Amino acid sequence: MSEFAKLSRPELEGLQEKLRTRYRQFQTKGLTLDMTRGKPSPEQLDLANDMLALPGADHFRDDQGTDLRNYGGLDGLPAMKQIFADLISVAPEHIIVGGNSSLALMHDVILRAMLFGVPGGQGPWREISNLAFLCPCPGYDRHFAICEMLGIRMITLPMLPTGPDMDAVEQHLRDDSAIRGIWIVPKYSNPTGITCNAATVKRLAEMKAAPDFRIFWDNAYCVHDLQEPGDDLADLMQACISAGNTERPIMFASTSKISFAGSGIAAMALGPESRKQAIDLASKQTIGPDKINQWRHVQFFQDAAGVRAHMRRHAELLRPRFAAVQDVFEKELGGRGVATWTQPRGGYFVSLDVMPGCAREVVRLAGEAGVKLTAAGATYPGGQDPEDQNLRIAPSLPGAEEIKIAMEVVSVCVKLAAIGRILKTN
Ligand SMILES: Cc1ncc(COP(=O)(O)O)c(C=O)c1O
Repeated sequence: MSEFAKLSRPELEGLQEKLRTRYRQFQTKGLTLDMTRGKPSPEQLDLANDMLALPGADHFRDDQGTDLRNYGGLDGLPAMKQIFADLISVAPEHIIVGGNSSLALMHDVILRAMLFGVPGGQGPWREISNLAFLCPCPGYDRHFAICEMLGIRMITLPMLPTGPDMDAVEQHLRDDSAIRGIWIVPKYSNPTGITCNAATVKRLAEMKAAPDFRIFWDNAYCVHDLQEPGDDLADLMQACISAGNTERPIMFASTSKISFAGSGIAAMALGPESRKQAIDLASKQTIGPDKINQWRHVQFFQDAAGVRAHMRRHAELLRPRFAAVQDVFEKELGGRGVATWTQPRGGYFVSLDVMPGCAREVVRLAGEAGVKLTAAGATYPGGQDPEDQNLRIAPSLPGAEEIKIAMEVVSVCVKLAAIGRILKTN
């Protein structure tokens, strides 16, 4: 089929009628498909069920002889630190192991920075007039929600196939002295699936920024390859150390999409001064994390190689789901000039760009046919996509057959919304 914009009005109206018939057929099926959040499927969670029996009644000491039932061990068990260190390629001395959620770590780091500031700074971030974060878009809605909650100004800039638009990053940093952070999902980013290239990592490490500027390096998908070999991510920590900006990166990761999404283990990696401050402040909040869950993870995975082997089994479950999205989009939307979409090599999402001004309409139409999509705009600060065109597709939870139907519905809605728009504007 040719591009929609090249069709005559009668051709478009004829096509619209056919699509409306298909749409009504979907509506009569009583579908209830949820493509909103990137949750692991029950089959993925099942892969870690043996962990539920660990560590076992008599196994309450780790390899160091520590009694895991008791208080203490604020920065995590050495064996757990080693696993995270290997997964995100930093030395274990940088790591603090937290509770079950990396998002909670990000939240607390920023809240504490607002109250107390961070090493290298002049005081609490809340005293910086017009405090701002750089937000490459499309991005992760919960990052933006933390900034919104704390009244932090968000400056959007494009997410390119190489990572954040570094020209824009450097320009903003030159022009605006109130910027203290940037959000980056560096590998298989949420939602575009891109991995930052080595040149981007180098520029991030070397660029000029305030001494208390921090890169929030949310490496949520560090081992979530769909294909072998997975994408390579350059070593930001080492690049920052070499550039004399040792305290600049704060890295986050978790096993939420490795073991159990609600009962995983989270960790962060910081420069030495920031790590010391984080531990001092965390010691006012807790006497220690859940070491039994950490030890259970160590027993189950043994080491980073064990995690990688486990993730190959996840990939086997995820590949057909992601393939279903690509197959349907290619068949339904390819060559029509009404949408582009990403073909991620890992992670949890496909980013779909529909015709400008159509994303909200697609979500509405899909919802009325029983397919729930993440709200249009969710990938932008304040839920406001200036072009109203980006949609995030999360194919992990439903089965491949359900995804196929859901994507057919979405494709029909994308085409209907596009035709409606073309007819209205021409
Ligand atoms: C980029 C990103 N960071 C963090 C999270 C949440 O991580 P956690 O479960 O460790 O809080 C998600 C979940 O979807 C995510 O996509």
